[in-house]
Amino acid sequence: MSSRKIATRKLGKSGLQVTEVGLGCWQLGGEFGPISESDAHSIVESALDEGVRFFETADVYGAGQSENHLGEALFKSSATTVVATKYGRAHGVYPDGYSFNSMRDSVLRSQDRLQRDKIDLLQLHCIPHEQLEAGHVFDWLEELKLQGQISHYGASVETLAQAKTCLKYEGISSIQLIFNLFRQTAVESLFDEAQRKQVGIIARVPLASGLLSGKLSKDTHFDESDHRFFNRQGDAFAIGETFSGIDFETGLKHVNSLYRHYKPATLKMPEFALRWILAHPAVSCVIPGASSAAQVIQNSRAANLPHLESTLHKNLFKFYNEQIKTTIKGEI
Ligand SMILES: NC(=O)c1ccc[n+]([C@@H]2O[C@H](COP(=O)([O-])OP(=O)(O)OC[C@H]3O[C@@H](n4cnc5c(N)ncnc54)[C@H](OP(=O)(O)O)[C@@H]3O)[C@@H](O)[C@H]2O)c1
Repeated sequence: MSSRKIATRKLGKSGLQVTEVGLGCWQLGGEFGPISESDAHSIVESALDEGVRFFETADVYGAGQSENHLGEALFKSSATTVVATKYGRAHGVYPDGYSFNSMRDSVLRSQDRLQRDKIDLLQLHCIPHEQLEAGHVFDWLEELKLQGQISHYGASVETLAQAKTCLKYEGISSIQLIFNLFRQTAVESLFDEAQRKQVGIIARVPLASGLLSGKLSKDTHFDESDHRFFNRQGDAFAIGETFSGIDFETGLKHVNSLYRHYKPATLKMPEFALRWILAHPAVSCVIPGASSAAQVIQNSRAANLPHLESTLHKNLFKFYNEQIKTTIKGEI
């Protein structure tokens, strides 16, 4: 194993230290197009080689395939890792089939696929706001913690209002949300309170499903099994998720502006996008997905690049508020 290191940050009050750059593992389930077992393993192994020690998946990604691939690849490694998975979107559970037993059984299946006796971080997976408000799910999470099935828990949410509801529950260690150059509002409306309450932010979809990598064009072809093909109008799940809720052609125009007017010449687009996220101290970890070892390497190494200038941050926030925010579909 290589000796590369990535700085770590606290995951809220959990006591866990997570690498600033983690690996998002949704693509290992085949929802960004088909993926072979060897490619999936090579993505995880490259992340380990680069010093990544935080991995994020879900019970439903590829109906367990992502957890299986991740579990197998991590099992072969001697590295100490933190693994987060999720519960709450499985058929028969979402949107109103929640119960302690279904949560516990999902965790047992995740443990099996991930080949771990205990889940480091279990997150609620974008469950309806009324379920978060009712609060039973948080009692069950506490119970699973007491029983030793999970070490910590958090919530992955779709909106800032949901994030604020989650902050009312004292036991929560992390909130996962879309946070990227196309989705900056949390800086002003959430981060101070999250820091005060010692709740770590996990920044998902950091490259706006690949748009902010700068490599996509109007001629890019997506496989029919790729959510970037079938969920552009929110037909399969929340409209705000794929491409961060921005229409593909509009997103390409925003990327072109970011590239021409804001990106420092020394950085590639993915590095620029990830550096911007890591400048925020409320963020514990950013979890880019990757379809190749080369992407993993580029994304992981962004952790060791210098911060962006503060005037650039101000200009990017202005650009977001004036040009991007109104083009996001769905509630933010
Ligand atoms: N509801 C939820 O809780 C939820 C929802 C979404 C995501 N997530 C989590 O967040 C993670 C990240 O989100 P995401 O994967 O949807 O979006 P993302 O990280 O914004 O985009 C990932 C995709 O961008 C492309 N890419 C990544 N690095 C690149 C690079 N250096 N150069 C060029 N292209 C690059 C790859 O796709 P191609 O090469 O195929 O173009 C990759 O699969 C997921 O894996 C998952 O763990 C959670």
